[in-house]
Amino acid sequence: MTIDLAALPHDFLWGTATSAYQIEGAVAEDGRSPSIWDTFSHTPGKIAGDDHGDVACDHYHRWREDIALMRRLGTNAYRLSVSWPRVVPGGDGPVNPKGLAFYDELVDGLLEAGITPSVTLYHWDLPQVLQDRGGWPERATAEHFAAYASVVAERLGDRVTHWATLNEPLCSAWIGHLEGTMAPGLTDLTAAVRASYHLLLGHGLAVQAIRAAVPAAEVGIVNNLSTVHPATDRPEDLAAARRMDGHTNRWWLDPVHGRGFPADMRELYGVELPEREGDVKTIAAPLDWLGLNYYFPATVADDPTGPAPHVRSVRRPGVPRTGMDWEIDASGIEALLLRLTDDYGARKLYVTENGSAFPDVVRPDGTVEDPERQDYLAGHLAACAAAARKGAPLAGYFAWSLLDNFEWAYGYDKRFGLVHVDYRTQARTIKGTGHRYGEIIRSHREGVPKAA
Ligand code: IFM
Repeated sequence: MTIDLAALPHDFLWGTATSAYQIEGAVAEDGRSPSIWDTFSHTPGKIAGDDHGDVACDHYHRWREDIALMRRLGTNAYRLSVSWPRVVPGGDGPVNPKGLAFYDELVDGLLEAGITPSVTLYHWDLPQVLQDRGGWPERATAEHFAAYASVVAERLGDRVTHWATLNEPLCSAWIGHLEGTMAPGLTDLTAAVRASYHLLLGHGLAVQAIRAAVPAAEVGIVNNLSTVHPATDRPEDLAAARRMDGHTNRWWLDPVHGRGFPADMRELYGVELPEREGDVKTIAAPLDWLGLNYYFPATVADDPTGPAPHVRSVRRPGVPRTGMDWEIDASGIEALLLRLTDDYGARKLYVTENGSAFPDVVRPDGTVEDPERQDYLAGHLAACAAAARKGAPLAGYFAWSLLDNFEWAYGYDKRFGLVHVDYRTQARTIKGTGHRYGEIIRSHREGVPKAA
């Protein structure tokens, strides 16, 4: 597998990504309040093995060790998320100094190690107290989010320039409020559509808050997108693919690009949006970059009796799959990077997440060999470089994930890490893919001449 590393700029960010609830643990320490994920994961039957994030990777106490791992990998960037219930335990109102201090020290530690922090403000861990007041279906949650964004930006903005507002709002809205397999676990189309609206409104308000606090900030949003293929050429399946594209991609991209919420999807959902004057402009606040999280493509057929968007997934025979049972198709990441460039005029792009879970085994000699994950990484990096060669302004890649971690409803069984975590001892072991990533990063550094 050849990766056209020369297509990537000399100052490319080679990173890893994590999120607060998935790795931090220490859920009841130093004034943190419960989030919707604490509630959801402690509800029997919601999570495989009844796992939860109480301890996770104990990163709250082991972050120095984890920064040392990043240095061993050779990465120069790290995407982390800040836990809202750690910083503003009441959802709105008083700030928790100990919560902020944790991120303050973490950022300092990263900078000392020569690693650029990229901070995401919301990776799904809404304070439970705000859920009790209605959560994302309520407008006030968007306003509280902006206030919290302002607190974090004011504190870290003297050192952090890379900011993301939301991670994968699709999951918060559609999986959390419509499919019900993520927190807060609702299956209510009206709540889901209202949540989607307020998430994007919160994004726009947070962009304003970050820019007010950090004039040099580079602000973006992180979406998980998929290429969508119709299962057949039947007109019904072609229409299903268009709906799926609207549900997965256009609903999240069009409003932030000033195009409003797609008319076909508004009609399909049939839910009145809680629009107020000025929101369209707020949601479309200009961004410095777009983040793409890419894992798999979607192939769909028409399913008139199913819930919105009335499609069903179809398995493409012969396509390899990861341990999540997700199709492996690197052409999707290239296609999406080019779509963001050509159709949405992106000026700067980051792959903010990409990775794969496979059942890893620690061998008697203490190593973890993971050839399938190595192939996944190399294949997707090659596709990223191909997109860059064709003109996508790709400025960085963040492998998901630095560590094995709490994979939401799947619990700890699914391992995405470049570093294996033994959850009994918290021992970390760099996997074969971690070493391979380091080699790729080194080749890029050594092979690409700096621009004059
Ligand atoms: O673990 C998640 C992450 O929190 C968000 N993006 C997808 C990853 C893998 O499922």
